[in-house]
Amino acid sequence: MGSRVKKDKHVYVCQECGQTEAKWLGRCPGCGGWNTLEEETLPDEAGKKHRSRAPSAAPQPLKDVDSGGGEQRISTTMAEADRVLGGGLVSGGIVLLAGEPGIGKSTILMQILMGLASEGRKVLYVSGEESLEQIRLRSERLGHIPDTLFVASETDVEAITSMVGQYSPEVLAVDSVQTLYHSSIASAPGSVAQVREGAARLMGAGKTAGLPVILVGHVTKEGSLAGPRVLEHLVDAVLYLEGDRTHSFRLLRTVKNRFGPTHEVGVFEMTSSGLKEIGNPSQLFMSRSSTGMPGSVTVPCVEGTRPILVEVQALVAPSYLGTPRRTATGFDSSRLALLIAVCERYLNASFYNKDIFLNVAGGMRLTEPAADLGVITALYSSLRQRPVPAGCAVFGEVGLTGEIRPVGRAKLRLEEAWRLGFKQCIIPAANLEKEGLSNKYNKGLLPMNKLLQLEDIF
Ligand code: TYD
Ligand code: MG
Repeated sequence: MGSRVKKDKHVYVCQECGQTEAKWLGRCPGCGGWNTLEEETLPDEAGKKHRSRAPSAAPQPLKDVDSGGGEQRISTTMAEADRVLGGGLVSGGIVLLAGEPGIGKSTILMQILMGLASEGRKVLYVSGEESLEQIRLRSERLGHIPDTLFVASETDVEAITSMVGQYSPEVLAVDSVQTLYHSSIASAPGSVAQVREGAARLMGAGKTAGLPVILVGHVTKEGSLAGPRVLEHLVDAVLYLEGDRTHSFRLLRTVKNRFGPTHEVGVFEMTSSGLKEIGNPSQLFMSRSSTGMPGSVTVPCVEGTRPILVEVQALVAPSYLGTPRRTATGFDSSRLALLIAVCERYLNASFYNKDIFLNVAGGMRLTEPAADLGVITALYSSLRQRPVPAGCAVFGEVGLTGEIRPVGRAKLRLEEAWRLGFKQCIIPAANLEKEGLSNKYNKGLLPMNKLLQLEDIF
């Protein structure tokens, strides 16, 4: 018998989106990224074994399936984290905690784990990024170290899964997926193949042992690098920790959750002793000193189900450049260009010889269309050098024909504005009609349906 030559299968995998190609291409057909395809070796043997092990359970009527009486939630002891998770961790559920390097993922994870362990749960934290000494130093800053918090420095996936079998923790956390390494795969740690395989194995271990698993994944500014994106479909929940590193506040955002709400946010502030929960975030994004100044407008935004008052500042100044400057921080610059064009057309405002700077205070990012009218009001206020009336907030979506469109959750926005002492609010007229906003606000509401009406208040 001739010896069989074992042939490895080579494929080219996009490190951005995970698209697999048989040959190398300069541009990924999946995501359009340039030079993102890299050669990887498929785990031939491992793959086959995996397939043959798949359970073949007979189909059964859905109504006879036991739902388990609603899944058991394990509270993280951090109210903001629980809110984002939809009540807490779920046994057998796998959560991906993603964010840019240095944003505070390991910190928040450690705080959650310390909270879980302080209630007597056996928690295992495996880090491939930091030494045990570094982990110890960090945890000392975060508070009392509970007895049942175990740490290990390991990157080998098989070693981690056998640790789970041996020590049977109640919660497993692995920091980060980019450091995981499985010997059946030839490519380097951090490649799509390694990340995917590592996460799949840990997920299997978590489901078998019925314990929640938290994975940390790094993303880069541009989006993601061999990690979170390719894992999103695999895991049960994806949380993004976001924020501007030059500011102290952080948002923990759900982008996917099989067990709870998506688009929910938790708000934190980075302090010298870890992340502190902010139950009342509106105060964080408003600078008291600039209210009443031209160009400053307060917008009641909604993140998930929670209202946050955010201050938008605009500066419109004469330009000495051939092409005037348009700079936006915390706001999409093409959306800004669009809103400027709408202003030019439907307001008596011309910006062609003006530099425009737009800033969302506190490092917050505004993505809601409901902020449109606030941005336009800020631009117009700065252009005219007249402040918005004191104690007046603004929200509304602006269409390309200068019409002001209704937005969702108007009541929630108004409640938050009134709670923080606002007495007036410019709102879309359609919201007033649609929702029959209570008399409580009626006197303070300035309904508008055309952009031109803005001129009346200045
Ligand atoms: P870290 O959790 O290590 O980030 P990641 O795991 O996402 O890469 O956090 C890094 C930053 O947080 C670092 O710049 C120091 C800062 N930090 C604080 O400000 N306070 C603290 O208590 C801790 C532990 C970190
Ligand atoms: Mg880290």
